[in-house]
Amino acid sequence: MGVAGLGAMGAGIAQLALEAGFDVVGREVTSELGEAARGRIGHFLGRKVEKGQLSAEDRDAALGRLELTTDLAHLARSDVVIEAIVEELDAKLECFAELERIVRPDAVLATNTSALSVTEIAAATSTPERVVGMHFFNPAPLMPLVEIVRAELSSEEAVETAYRLGERMGKTPVRCHDTPGFVVNRILIPLLNDCVRALDEARVTPEEMDTALRHGAGWPMGPCTLVDLVGIDVHVHASEALYEKLREPRMAPPPRLVAMRNAGLLGRKSGRGFYSYD
Ligand code: CAA
Repeated sequence: MGVAGLGAMGAGIAQLALEAGFDVVGREVTSELGEAARGRIGHFLGRKVEKGQLSAEDRDAALGRLELTTDLAHLARSDVVIEAIVEELDAKLECFAELERIVRPDAVLATNTSALSVTEIAAATSTPERVVGMHFFNPAPLMPLVEIVRAELSSEEAVETAYRLGERMGKTPVRCHDTPGFVVNRILIPLLNDCVRALDEARVTPEEMDTALRHGAGWPMGPCTLVDLVGIDVHVHASEALYEKLREPRMAPPPRLVAMRNAGLLGRKSGRGFYSYD
């Protein structure tokens, strides 16, 4: 398997593939970023060993199946490539056009995009039938769902390959069509936006909002903690993408989140968002 982009999502996807027994070639733009992803995967697999969920041999074998590269051409032997690079359409179009030249003609090309159109991404290739969406949730190793997104021209075979791959990676796949936000983000993004707007309306703190949703609606983590985990920039970008397509006011990012994004308060990854992190 090839994984293009080893940020939070790509590293999580690579970890799942390694644990499922695949040989993985992971590509990042610099070797430092690649090594950071290897360190992250090693850390989480190490925790599993400490907790008795994985043997030290299996961890070592899994890490041994990971090859890092900065050159997309090294993904040439892949049967499937999952792309998890930056959420920008132009970057993804360029990546898919390049992947098409590199991998064999029947390899499946999947994008982990959360809010862009898989159909538009597939249009960068001359073989859109082999392009699908495989949308994992953050944190990918822990969240059971993967949305298997059928783009306008995806073949039945590519969709089924992605579905079975999702199952092999230990996930619960759900097939859906290529509509803005697919299933979960179509609902979750406006919901999180409402939570942020209600902070000011109800005059509650992020802690109080989180407590309310955890104890009143059974959420595993409160909305402010969740937006910090997803990344304020990622959430704002996804909101903007959905608003652009659906024109529903609730999809638009609340000004408070846009200001946080502009100030560099990106959540957990920047050390500060609604909360501060060490
Ligand atoms: N990768 C791999 N392993 C990880 C990890 C990660 N990112 N984060 C944690 N772990 C491991 C750790 O080893 C941890 O154990 P230790 O603390 O002992 O090291 C273990 O998983 C369990 O972690 P937690 O104790 O934190 O687990 P939890 O029971 O509290 O559950 C959770 C954590 C699954 C994240 C839960 O809080 C949850 O379901 N939260 C909601 C998350 C959610 O809604 N995600 C969707 C975001 S939206 C999205 O992703 C869509 C999009 O396109 C933007």
